[in-house]
Amino acid sequence: MRKLAYIIIAAIVCSTILLSAKQKADKKENAIDKKVKALVSKMTLEEKVGQMTQITIETVSKQHGTATQQFEYDPIKLKEAITKYHVGSLLNVYDVALDIDYWHKMQTAIQDIATKDTRLKIPILYGIDGIHGANYTKGATIFPQAINMAATFNSDLVKKEGEITALEIRASGIPWNFYPVLDLGRQQLWPRLWETYGEDVYLDSKMGESYIEGAQGDDISEKDKVAVCLKHYVGYSFPLDGKDRTPAWIPERMMQEYFLPPFQKAIEAGAQTVMVNSSEVDGIPGHSNYHLLTEVLRGEMKFKGIVVSDWQDIERLYTRDKVADSPEDAVRMAVMAGVDMSMVPTDYSFYNYLLKLVKEDKVPVKRIDEAVSRILRVKYMLGLFDNPYPDENLKAKFATKESDAANLEAAQESIVLAKNDGNVLPLSKDSKVLVTGPTANMLSVLNGGWTITWQGNEESLYPKDKPTVLKAIQDKIKSGNVKYVQGTNFNKEINIDEAVNAAKDVDDIVLCLGENAYCETPGNINDLTLDTAQLNFANAMIKTGKPVIVLMIEGRPRIIRSIVDGAKAVLLAFLPGMDGGEAISDILFGYANPSGKLSVTYPRYPDDLMHYDYKPLEAAEGNTFNPQWSFGYGLSYTNFSYSNLKLNKPAFNKGEEISVTVEVKNTGNRKGKEAVLLYLNDEYGSVSRPVRQLKRFTKIELNPGESRTVTFKLNDYDLSFIGRQNKRIVEPGKFKIFIGNLSTEFTLLD
Ligand code: BGC
Repeated sequence: MRKLAYIIIAAIVCSTILLSAKQKADKKENAIDKKVKALVSKMTLEEKVGQMTQITIETVSKQHGTATQQFEYDPIKLKEAITKYHVGSLLNVYDVALDIDYWHKMQTAIQDIATKDTRLKIPILYGIDGIHGANYTKGATIFPQAINMAATFNSDLVKKEGEITALEIRASGIPWNFYPVLDLGRQQLWPRLWETYGEDVYLDSKMGESYIEGAQGDDISEKDKVAVCLKHYVGYSFPLDGKDRTPAWIPERMMQEYFLPPFQKAIEAGAQTVMVNSSEVDGIPGHSNYHLLTEVLRGEMKFKGIVVSDWQDIERLYTRDKVADSPEDAVRMAVMAGVDMSMVPTDYSFYNYLLKLVKEDKVPVKRIDEAVSRILRVKYMLGLFDNPYPDENLKAKFATKESDAANLEAAQESIVLAKNDGNVLPLSKDSKVLVTGPTANMLSVLNGGWTITWQGNEESLYPKDKPTVLKAIQDKIKSGNVKYVQGTNFNKEINIDEAVNAAKDVDDIVLCLGENAYCETPGNINDLTLDTAQLNFANAMIKTGKPVIVLMIEGRPRIIRSIVDGAKAVLLAFLPGMDGGEAISDILFGYANPSGKLSVTYPRYPDDLMHYDYKPLEAAEGNTFNPQWSFGYGLSYTNFSYSNLKLNKPAFNKGEEISVTVEVKNTGNRKGKEAVLLYLNDEYGSVSRPVRQLKRFTKIELNPGESRTVTFKLNDYDLSFIGRQNKRIVEPGKFKIFIGNLSTEFTLLD
């Protein structure tokens, strides 16, 4: 009885706290709405259109930065942008990352002009692509890319990345990050695959939510938080031909079931800004898609924040897509479709055209007021009207040892051990190794695009204190035991014979293959197969008879079928970031136990690009699912066994919570982490159902011999899908649950 009373009191206290937190937030929002209304009523049309204009810092610069030349902004051009064109937002760097002091100097100059030299003193909203850390501030903590972060199946690490990145970006004086990328990674050729959280809807949604939780916290006006920007709404990641910025065909049902949910969840998690798909879906360019930008995003998804265009994409409605017959009409089309801010970004054309369009009644002032209100609202929410200046105190928290430790942990957990014949790994600390291949001795390849520069391929700009794979191995074992020969470049032979010779007196070969750094369109390829030069080189190494450990450092799963059998072990490292070299060598020599599982299916053939959640007909009547390795696959140096998969009941009514438990045991002799993945299959559905879909995951750590019971709770949403009428539905019937090698089933009653 006493226990019951305690529970009731606790419930009342909790709900009062929750209610008052919600009431507080509502009160704050109402106060902001009032301020916005009052400010908009004072603004001239020119000031309003200026708020909707975003230019890149290059437009107001004296000179760009290079390895040897300091970037310099131009105070005169900057003043002109803010005072004459009333520009409300700026973005990015002019080619290379800046040091934190220069960021402070520049941000102070920008906000000084905005708050001292303009009539209404509206602060500037500066945005940046902090894709895997504050990658445009020198010396920042640079995390593994998203394809890796997803492979950790550890949402705490993703949240931590969000926290650290937000702090380091805000410490640079910048309040707005164009991240996370929530595009679903279901096109393996796409050169931005590595920017995604992989091919699964649930994993993508969950990692997005965790990142936002870390980056935004409860209140984006906190000194160390930023506003996130969800990219790229929506359907960008699924180009038919795999090339960047090419058409996607995504019918309504698939859009709702696969591509929209990660954005919906992120909006529910508090995201205040969204960037538009630079490409087209079903023939409609993203920036002119009223249905998706207004009816779906605002109407159905209840998004209240800013929609910002992608780079130059409004103009491209005319110059590239040709759905507008003049640049002016392109502006009208985009604004009326629902774009609030134009990333113009190198001139004032948008400003001039939009002014003209409003004066000629082709765009109503009401629409302008709506867009400006959304922009000002975010500026208020960020606390910029109270203080838009960089915080000197945050510098002390920038790139700390603790942040680096979190980064190393993420890198270690993001690497997937795909093959380990006869437990060749971990290698003995006394073994003599030949380290070879094009990715062995470069930091850029571990990081990929959006690192220090857009393409991330300026090796000379990388920090000297971070090890490449080769350097990290030399640091880890006796350096006299390590030989290095490059062997090949990415697509041409360099000194294969020398490598074959060097292999003669070593115990093992660490063969580092993969891709050079790239980003967006320059990363387009015509063939997913790894370059012939690298495959030939790998075969020459295998022929030496020495155990070959293949290490893949790459942004997408390049096909390596012809060398997998000959390799004793395969480590899929993808893009593990600035601590990637160290993480890889930790795994190679057993200082860390691998626990990553694939966030994308690794194809065996270039023309057999399937996903783990394929439909029954893809594996019927002679069809097969036969990838090199499936999504969710990854080995460890220890073994985990699964038992006692149980449900709390055999049958459920709609709306009832389903509780699933399973016991996981470490049956090997090393401590290890295991990602426990729960998949569901709806056995019969009015729309064909995938053979399995991930619905929950967690990551646990177990000592040898230790076991743990893991509990997952499922609800109606997990059982739902988009029905024939294009509405989300739940159908009664049989469902199967799969965890590890076990399965069970339950019935959902009518
Ligand atoms: C990319 C965006 C990025 C923007 C600003 C575009 O090319 O598609 O992801 O945020 O540039 O740098």
